[in-house]
Parts: sequence; structure tokens; C-alpha cells
Amino acid sequence: MSDAMNLVAQDMRGMDAVIERRLSSDVPLVGQISRYIVAAGGKRLRPVLLLLMCGALDCRSEQRLNLAAVVEFIHTATLLHDDVVDESTLRRGRATANEAFGNPASVLVGDFLYSRAFQMMLEAQDMHVMEVLAEATNVIAEGEVQQLMNMHDASLSEENYLSVIRSKTAKLFEASARLAALLAKSEPSIEAACADYGQALGTAFQVIDDVLDYDGDVAEMGKNLGDDLREGKVTLPLIIAMQKANPAQRAVIQTAIEGGGVERMGEIIAIVQDTGALAATRTRAAQEAQRAIDALSALPTSLYKEALHGLAAQLLERRA
Ligand code: IPE
Ligand code: IPE
Ligand code: MG
Ligand code: MG
Repeated sequence: MSDAMNLVAQDMRGMDAVIERRLSSDVPLVGQISRYIVAAGGKRLRPVLLLLMCGALDCRSEQRLNLAAVVEFIHTATLLHDDVVDESTLRRGRATANEAFGNPASVLVGDFLYSRAFQMMLEAQDMHVMEVLAEATNVIAEGEVQQLMNMHDASLSEENYLSVIRSKTAKLFEASARLAALLAKSEPSIEAACADYGQALGTAFQVIDDVLDYDGDVAEMGKNLGDDLREGKVTLPLIIAMQKANPAQRAVIQTAIEGGGVERMGEIIAIVQDTGALAATRTRAAQEAQRAIDALSALPTSLYKEALHGLAAQLLERRA
């Protein structure tokens, strides 16, 4: 991340100022909760992507800082809602907003952030920008609902899993990259390449997130492990483990998916490791990262392009 962060450090400070200014509300609890989660940090990956892509396309539009804040607001809103739905208790190294303030407040402040993002995007005065963001927000919601319907389904296919993560996660990465092309007034082929890069990067990012839910470190991640299995959420490590497991191991996984809970977490972790499912899942992420890197060939040579290349590679090694 460091090369990427250095290149956009100044823009990121500008975006932080926008975020701070736009979090203001006459209702104290709105500011309190939104600052609670925003101040905890987060990797700010979607703004980094948007701003690096602007750099790669040589776009200095003032709107880039505003739209970088918009995608971070939309992301933050999804996290507030996601943690309620997933009943998660730890996020960014602190108690989730639902844990600290309760579910109703988290949902409502999530709504505030979504709608504030929509107010902000109007400033770009560009129908294409609004179209991309309206679509992304809608597709994210669809992905979360699709995932909800897939809970406890031990026969979930890899294809169905991929469809969920392309919606719930990759879509916002895709939108972030595409917005840069819109601001830069790039030709359609470049816009498509940016979108492809974002989609592939976001997919790889979520696949690794799903590995880390089994194989990560709580302190580094700042969120609890095992959340997916606990709620009966089937992700790629489990899908591949089911394919590779012997009948006894398969029965253990199936019972865990159908019943939820983490009573047999140790056993499941051993199975996803011993069957090679975690390694195979990482290989799938690497294929997506390569697809992202391939999409970059449409862009002119620059330090920003190199940083985007590095981002796709580093994401595979991430521990947080
Ligand atoms: C968390 O996203 C949700 C997923 C898509 C896995 P991030 O890992 O980007 O969250 P923060 O913003 O860095 O906390
Ligand atoms: C990502 O899914 C959620 C969204 C994109 C809204 P997860 O549920 O895996 O994300 P974490 O693990 O809680 O961050
Ligand atoms: Mg979650
Ligand atoms: Mg997760």
C-alpha cells in the first residue's frame, strides 16, 4: 500500500477535510456515531483507488476529492448495516457501532450516510456520475439480500458465491474506478478498462477477506474471525473444502453451515487447511488480481499505473 498511499497522500488529506465537513448534522447522535466509525480509520481503499485512477488518467478535477468522500461514505454506510445484519461486535479494532450504540441507531445513521452521499454527488452535476453511483448502491443492496437468501445453504455453488461478492463488494470498487474515467472524460474503452480493473480488484479483495475470516489475526484485522461460519455464511474456503473433503469432513462442514455457530470452529479450520481449500481460495484471488493487472495495459505508463499494479499484488498478501 505504501507507494499507492504516498502518491495520493495529499489528495487523501483533502478528502479527509471533505469528510469531516460533510459529517456535520444538527442532530448530535448522527455526528457522534458517524465520527465514531470514521475516526476508527479503515484502509480507505475505495478513495485510494479512485484517486490513483484519476492520477493515472491525468485528471485534476476538483470533484475527485468530493467523489472520493462519496464512495467512502457509501462504504461506511454498508458497514454500519452489514454489522447489524451479521451481528458483528468488532470493527476497525473497536466495538461496532451496533455494539456501542445499538442496532436502531446504526441502521439510521447508515441511512444518513447513504443520503448524505447522494446530496454530495449532486455537486458533480453529471448524470453519468449519478447513474454509476445510484446503480452501485442498488446492486450492493441486492448482493446483501442475495447473500441473506444463501445463508445456511451447504450446496451453494462457486458461481452463486461469485455473483454475491461481485455485487456486495466488487461493485463499489468498479464504480470508484469508473468515476475517475468519467471525471477524466476518458473514451469508452478506457472507462471499460478502469471498470474491469476495479471489479477484478474488488473481487480479489473480498475473496481474501473470506480467507482471513478463517486464517487471519484478530488484532491485525480489527474484526473477529469466524463471523462467517457463526452465521452460516458460505464463502469460497468452505465451498472448495466441501469439494475436496472426505465424507466425514464434509458432514462436519455441512452440519456447521446448516446450524451455524462456532462450536466446531477448530475442526473446520483444520479441514479448510488440510484439504488445501485455503490455498486454493488464495489461488482464485490471485487469478482475479491478475485480471485486474491485465486491465491496466489499456492505460498510459505512469507512476500511478505502477501503484495500481502494486495494489493488486499487495492485496493478496494483506493481513488487515
Ligand atoms: C470491509 O471492507 C468489508 C469488505 C468488503 C470485506 P474494508 O476491509 O475495506 O474495510 P475498512 O474500511 O478498511 O475498515
Ligand atoms: C462485506 O462482507 C460487506 C459489504 C460489502 C457491505 P463481509 O460481511 O464479509 O464484511 P466484513 O467481514 O464484515 O468486513
Ligand atoms: Mg460482515
Ligand atoms: Mg468478512
